[in-house]
Amino acid sequence: MTDILQELEDRRAAARLGGGRKRIDAQHAKGKLTARERIELLLDEGSFEEFDMFVAHRCTEFGMEAERPYGDGVVTGWGTVNGRMIYVFSQDFTVFGGSLSETHAQKICKIMDMAVQNGAPVIGLNDSGGARIQEGVASLAGYADVFQRNIMASGVVPQISVIMGPCAGGAVYSPAMTDFIFMVRDSSYMFVTGPDVVKTVTNEVVTAEELGGASTHTRKSSVADGAFADDVEAMMEVRRLVDFLPASNREKPPHRPFHDDPARVEPSLDTLIPASPNQPYDMKELITKVADERDFYEIQEDFARNIVTGFIRLEGSTVGVVANQPMVLAGCLDIDASRKAARFVRFCDAFEIPILTFVDVPGFLPGTGQEHGGVIKHGAKLLYAFGEATVPKVTVITRKAYGGAYDVMSSKHIRGDFNYAWPTAEIAVMGAKGATEILYRSELGDADKIAARTKDYEDRFANPFVAAERGFIDEVIQPQSTRRRVCRAFASLRGKQLSNPWKKHDNLPL
Ligand code: HXC
Repeated sequence: MTDILQELEDRRAAARLGGGRKRIDAQHAKGKLTARERIELLLDEGSFEEFDMFVAHRCTEFGMEAERPYGDGVVTGWGTVNGRMIYVFSQDFTVFGGSLSETHAQKICKIMDMAVQNGAPVIGLNDSGGARIQEGVASLAGYADVFQRNIMASGVVPQISVIMGPCAGGAVYSPAMTDFIFMVRDSSYMFVTGPDVVKTVTNEVVTAEELGGASTHTRKSSVADGAFADDVEAMMEVRRLVDFLPASNREKPPHRPFHDDPARVEPSLDTLIPASPNQPYDMKELITKVADERDFYEIQEDFARNIVTGFIRLEGSTVGVVANQPMVLAGCLDIDASRKAARFVRFCDAFEIPILTFVDVPGFLPGTGQEHGGVIKHGAKLLYAFGEATVPKVTVITRKAYGGAYDVMSSKHIRGDFNYAWPTAEIAVMGAKGATEILYRSELGDADKIAARTKDYEDRFANPFVAAERGFIDEVIQPQSTRRRVCRAFASLRGKQLSNPWKKHDNLPL
């Protein structure tokens, strides 16, 4: 009996060693942790339960039958993050470069099926040379099996990808279909075709980092939602994100004890809006001053910074925040901002996370670049996302809400539940100057007359009361009381029931 027990331990020890000490050292030398070390950091201590530790590949090509390491390049299982269950797979670069074989894919599929069945998030730690070259089409089939599960799991359980090494070729499409992608700076990259192929086909010379490193994907392409300095920070930040998310679409967002008075008054907000309408201010100040304990988890911080998206808690419950940022492009909506915010709103709606919208938007960004880039369709995405969302929606207009952008930003007309405005709000078709120049074109030569006309327009329209008279604004509120008003609004919406007409699926303007 002791021999058998010892054999189990020996086999376990062999599996834990992955591709062997030399390759583990090489992994560490690159500043990377191993698949198991990452899981240890991600999960609560001692909570990891592994599946398929002894799975080995079945390939007999290229002499592969001689080398059949346990685990086959991926560690899979479940565990807890602050007591809440998650499923995880972590690719082991020390075993055939973490490449995906038929059996490697089967291991990932197994935990994805269990995650959907049991209602818990899936977190994928990606560090892989892509398709296992020796297995050919069997490996491609394995990828497709994972892709299909990503699609089926979308909107059912949260899916998070962390790119912690290479991720190239078709392999990128599994993370691409998950809800959030995070990267590790300087040690991860993602691209469909690498620098060598790019050089051959287009003659461009580019490094892997420039082509698909963390800064490219968080700033330029928006493929990634965030980047972290190293593996440790990445795991800690993913834990923080998991705390905000519901386990599945069958559950309400998590609620946790809070130590912040919901009625907390913030007198400093009364002076947040500068005297001049063209002077910017930092919308993030408002977000953090409203949030429980000032805790804000920002998504896509470095992309389309004219709109801010992320999670806060109010009275201990998760709320998604969408806010125009007057500090960047005066808070205009453009293609990138619309796409970024639309995806965020749809994530929130899919997982029953209420949405808080702060509005200070002078309109859509003008220009040929925007029009030729399809701002009509991309802007429609955000309008569509807000309009189809059935979760509780609370909107606060702090300053400008002009034109179509007013309608788009979770207005009353697209089923906003509570639409508040600060006294500084200006809700109109456009700003006073632009309006006067159109209405009184014939008087443009007379500066005094135009100034008087502009003043008259401002007096009549640059306020929240015209909209409030019509009930488009439910209440004009004191800025200092925003947290209290918003908390009470969401509290009153806890029993909200609203559903859209039956359809096979919608036809969002893609
Ligand atoms: C099998 C692989 C492998 C792969 C790496 N290895 N990639 N084995 N299939 N795809 C093995 C290496 O042979 C090596 O084994 C070990 O992993 C580490 O690789 P190194 O090259 O020594 O590491 P490094 O220098 O860090 O380079 C990493 C790398 C490089 C950039 C990922 O290995 C590489 O370019 N690999 C091939 C990538 C590729 O073309 N994949 C197919 C892409 S197409 P030893 O025994 O020496 O430790 C694809 C399609 C997916 O993925 C389609 C889905 C629809």
